[in-house]
Amino acid sequence: MTTHCLIRLATDADRPQIRELLRSAFGQEDEADLVDDIVNSIGYLPDLEVVADDGGVVVGHVMLTRAQIEEALPGMMMRNIPAVALAPLAVHPSRQNSGLGSELVREVLDRARILGERIALVLGHPEFYPRFGFHEALSYGIMPPHEVRSDAWMVAELAPGGLTEVRGTARFAAPFNNPKYW
Ligand SMILES: CC(C)(COP(=O)(O)OP(=O)(O)OC[C@H]1O[C@@H](n2cnc3c(N)ncnc32)[C@H](O)[C@@H]1OP(=O)(O)O)[C@@H](O)C(=O)NCCC(=O)NCCS
Repeated sequence: MTTHCLIRLATDADRPQIRELLRSAFGQEDEADLVDDIVNSIGYLPDLEVVADDGGVVVGHVMLTRAQIEEALPGMMMRNIPAVALAPLAVHPSRQNSGLGSELVREVLDRARILGERIALVLGHPEFYPRFGFHEALSYGIMPPHEVRSDAWMVAELAPGGLTEVRGTARFAAPFNNPKYW
């Protein structure tokens, strides 16, 4: 279904509208606070924050942030494999179920691929994300950063071989460590 929106990178001028959108989509302030915290953290990836713009009105938003998969090696050594984490994703309630959420996810994952990212992680609706190439992460030996519903914890390979010999525990950008946002 066509959405007639411009899908583009978020700018600082969009911040108030992004806050309002997140408040409407989630029915609370937490996700809006989370995005503000992310934007001020070192995990923020400005090239991977995307909005759906309908004639100057922000009706959708998604972002990927820096994550790592931390693998314990013999001899107390650690290997950190870079990944991106998808969260949050929001479409204004008046525009849901018209394909916009899917368009935003595809766009931000395409941008990540172009930038050379190889692995994407998400904690989200298990009925929604498999259509974009996400699979249960536990079956790949990739553990979540904290206890979660196992079918909601998913991983996608963004480049061929991106998940080969990758296992370990995911670490998200610092704002996600605040239990308020789990
Ligand atoms: C989830 C969300 C982003 C989807 O956006 P959207 O524009 O409605 O999505 P699309 O139109 O591209 O796709 C619709 C599909 O998403 C599914 N979907 C929507 N909300 C869902 C939910 N809470 N759980 C599972 N699937 C959901 C619909 O059932 C539909 O599935 P179908 O294609 O098999 O019929 C939107 O509903 C939203 O903003 N929800 C509130 C915030 C939220 O839950 N964010 C996601 C956190 S993981």
